Amino acid sequence: MRLRTRTGLLTLVLAGLVSGAAGAAELSIVSGAVGRDIDELRKHLDWFEERTGHTVSIVTMPASTSDQFGQYRLWLSAQNPDIDVYRTDVIWAPQLASHFVDLTEHVQDVVGEHFPAIIESQTVDGKIVALPMFTDAPALYYRTDLLEKHGFEPPTTWVGMAETAQAVMEAERAEGNAEIWGFVWQGSAYEGLTCNALEWVKSNGGGQIVEPDGEISINNENAAEAIDLARTWVDTISPPGVLGYKEEEARGVWQVGNSVFMRNWPYAYALSNGDDSAVKDKFAVVPLPIGPSGDRSAATLGGWNLAVSAYSPDQEAAIELVKFLASAEVQKDRAIETTRLPTIPALYEDAEVAEAQPVIPLWLDIFLNAVPRPSAPTKANYNQVSQEFWTAVHNTLSGTGDAATNLAELERNLKRIRRSGW
Ligand code: GLC
Repeated sequence: MRLRTRTGLLTLVLAGLVSGAAGAAELSIVSGAVGRDIDELRKHLDWFEERTGHTVSIVTMPASTSDQFGQYRLWLSAQNPDIDVYRTDVIWAPQLASHFVDLTEHVQDVVGEHFPAIIESQTVDGKIVALPMFTDAPALYYRTDLLEKHGFEPPTTWVGMAETAQAVMEAERAEGNAEIWGFVWQGSAYEGLTCNALEWVKSNGGGQIVEPDGEISINNENAAEAIDLARTWVDTISPPGVLGYKEEEARGVWQVGNSVFMRNWPYAYALSNGDDSAVKDKFAVVPLPIGPSGDRSAATLGGWNLAVSAYSPDQEAAIELVKFLASAEVQKDRAIETTRLPTIPALYEDAEVAEAQPVIPLWLDIFLNAVPRPSAPTKANYNQVSQEFWTAVHNTLSGTGDAATNLAELERNLKRIRRSGW
């Protein structure tokens, strides 16, 4: 155990009283971030430090969840003792479970507060490997001012979205708004593209890549149609650079007022309404559109959790930290300040949350109907499966083969990865 000597006697005594511990731990938490995630985390860590006497430093990571995953896997395989708490993506639990402390016994008093399905997603072989910080499900952001000005309703289909995007973009450009685009999203070759493309495919009746029973379903006509359709957006309604965009690049274009539509997660909502945003009070969100051969919208289920490293020398204090950051008090502040969706149902009925961010209770339905990526059925292979999928999609979007050809090859690759079973 790493002990820290406090300089002020009073601080030491107070810290001891509050934490009931003989000494204060020095913890470190590693976290990727978009938007204001790190500032918000730092604020909550300050609260935690004041109350417990422990100190916590943040190790920051690049925004891409795929980059984070690669680094974390290296650190965990090396049994790195310097990181106590990992902020983990909802899809990672089955792949990293063996490196994390079993929280089951430690969270019995709070686990019932959360949506059972989220706890389930973080439970591997009966072991709770992480507690949720916030959940995630994207929506279609649209410019209320521009749609109204040009006489359009918010679209419910992808085809309708593209038509509206094209018409509004052309009309605006004709009026001298030279920088405007129709639709920004996440087309870079990483996990975010898996999320976007799963939405096109699922909302077109094309399944969810690998079905819950483990069947590889992606090589089908509806899936190919959906991806070929998305290809037509590149360099027409979407900037050619969209094939390199992650969440923040899309938000950057949108937030300076240069896109009619954006696909993004809820964090972009509070930021888009910030005082420095060009689209403040000029936008709203609706569920993502439906494909030409589909009958319902699909939003990919996301979300972030907190896990304690099995190699942390301060596991007790680390567990205390995880419980604090996942608590209703902290989730409420996170929802109010950064429109991160709580994982605690009661917060969707909280008057202060609804007053500060009326969109949060409205977003509940999108989250409750969200589609999981196939991380549970594909187990330790998920990252590879996703990588094969986003590569096939990225190739199609950039004109290397059509979707039917690329999905047939993807199916062969996935079968090879699966061999006799996931
Ligand atoms: C969001 C989601 C996460 C997903 C990522 C993809 O952060 O919460 O689950 O993997 O986007 O970029």
